[in-house]
Amino acid sequence: MPSVDEPFTLIIFGASGDLTRRKLMPALFALYAARTLPEPFAIVGVARTEMSTDEFRRRMRDAIVEFGRVQPPSDIVWERFARTLFYLPGNPKDPELYPRLQRFLEEIERGRSGPENRLFYCATPPSLYDDIVEHLGAARLARGRDGWTRIVVEKPFGQDDDTARALNRQLARVFREEQIYRIDHYLGKETVQNLLVFRFANGIFEPLWNRNHVAHIQITVAESIGVETRGAYYEEAGALRDMMQNHLLQVLCLIAMEPPVTFDAAPVREEKNKVLQAIRPIDRTQVAEVALRGQYGPGFVEGKHVVGYREEKGVARDSRTETYAALKLFVDNWRWAGVPFYLRTGKRLAKRVSEIVIQFRRTPHMIFRRQPTGAGPNHLVLRIQPGEGIALTVAAKVPGPELHLAPVTLDFRYGEVFGGQPPEAYERLLLDAIHGDATLYARGDWVEQAWAILAPVLEAWRESDAPLPVYEAGSWGPPEADTFITGWDGWAWRNP
Ligand code: NDP
Ligand code: BG6
Repeated sequence: MPSVDEPFTLIIFGASGDLTRRKLMPALFALYAARTLPEPFAIVGVARTEMSTDEFRRRMRDAIVEFGRVQPPSDIVWERFARTLFYLPGNPKDPELYPRLQRFLEEIERGRSGPENRLFYCATPPSLYDDIVEHLGAARLARGRDGWTRIVVEKPFGQDDDTARALNRQLARVFREEQIYRIDHYLGKETVQNLLVFRFANGIFEPLWNRNHVAHIQITVAESIGVETRGAYYEEAGALRDMMQNHLLQVLCLIAMEPPVTFDAAPVREEKNKVLQAIRPIDRTQVAEVALRGQYGPGFVEGKHVVGYREEKGVARDSRTETYAALKLFVDNWRWAGVPFYLRTGKRLAKRVSEIVIQFRRTPHMIFRRQPTGAGPNHLVLRIQPGEGIALTVAAKVPGPELHLAPVTLDFRYGEVFGGQPPEAYERLLLDAIHGDATLYARGDWVEQAWAILAPVLEAWRESDAPLPVYEAGSWGPPEADTFITGWDGWAWRNP
């Protein structure tokens, strides 16, 4: 049941860390500055680092100045926000911390009228989630006296289907499913949410959105950055776990799902789950045909020389971790039978771009076959970032006495129409968790199913000793990526 105007306390485990600094605190401040947070509220940071509440407030201000979309506009607004921040040093692994936390929270919430609403946020390394959940349960912090208690769990949610199932079981021992918010920040991005509006608030595209008109679909999440400071984490993860299992499969679900009955958590999540259930299981013996990996070598990105993956800090010199992954999936249902979905993601690619290409079929008969044409079949590009927008490419006649065809693009940019900067994904997602709206959060069985889809690929890649294709940093991935897609009917990746 959404709760909108009630007081709440947000408790962040791992509050001295990178996520809190870069994402959570800037998002919370932006929400506060826009007066969208229900008041009164308190934000309690918990981590092992010894520091006072004053020191925590100072650090959080620096973080907002460095990473915030919305800057502290005046000392008065900052001072008011800072008064809501508190810090409790302690190790989330230590059961002794939790009775202390309970007393700390009671002290902060004393004198505040309204129900005792609490949102716990696991912003620690995932290896700590089990302990946090168990100790919250043991200290009776998982159920409020009145009001609601919820928990946000960060990605990665497990390492494979077994570990995801174990984490779901552990959560279920302490929390009810409706209390659990599994975050995927891609779902909080404005343009990802817009996919649903585009599909289901416009009547003209839905009749085309199926196997009769669509030849294939491409989903690209390309990054120009390398692994930066996260080499150690990335060595364990790789592109398939880090991006494909969550962000790209979520986007695929939004593109492929049937219209939900309403835009509410239960029907939306139900339809997304049905898409995963319809994905054709990958045959262990056919992994090489439907999955491709690669690792970046040295090269030039945006004119600057960059080192190869194996030279990055925290990475083994003989690492076999993939920094590029591509998949060819089929959604075996009435709507999508026979339509390939090509998914690719990678680090140190030519540019940062996330987009979806709906490639329509060729016209059944081309009457302009004898005329010079640079125009191919229509395609629709849904650009997630940057330059969020929608572009439809159609064929047009080039002005002049002769009949020459050329592609032209009908281009719509959100920035140009609506202006301003869209809110950060974490703003939307934090607010939803506070309001009790789980529509944009992943359901437990969705996560397990997503892992199960990738299991044969993870296994085949783990066992294979074939050399990993290397691609030059700043390129569009390993050369094999081109044949990976052209093998099917002569199509090509759209490299914007
Ligand atoms: P950090 O590595 O910065 O860890 C967060 C905090 O957890 C640290 O400041 C540390 O605080 C505490 N911590 C670390 N190790 C231990 C330990 N062994 N025992 C107890 N406490 C420990 O992680 P991030 O902030 O980068 O990420 C947090 C979570 O968010 C992870 O699950 C990550 O995958 C996810 N995530 C992060 C993103 C990002 O941009 N950083 C993006 C998307 C997801 P202290 O030493 O003070 O106890
Ligand atoms: C995170 C991954 O989930 O998403 C990172 O762990 C990746 O490796 C990031 O860089 C990309 O997010 P965005 O919002 O920058 O596209």
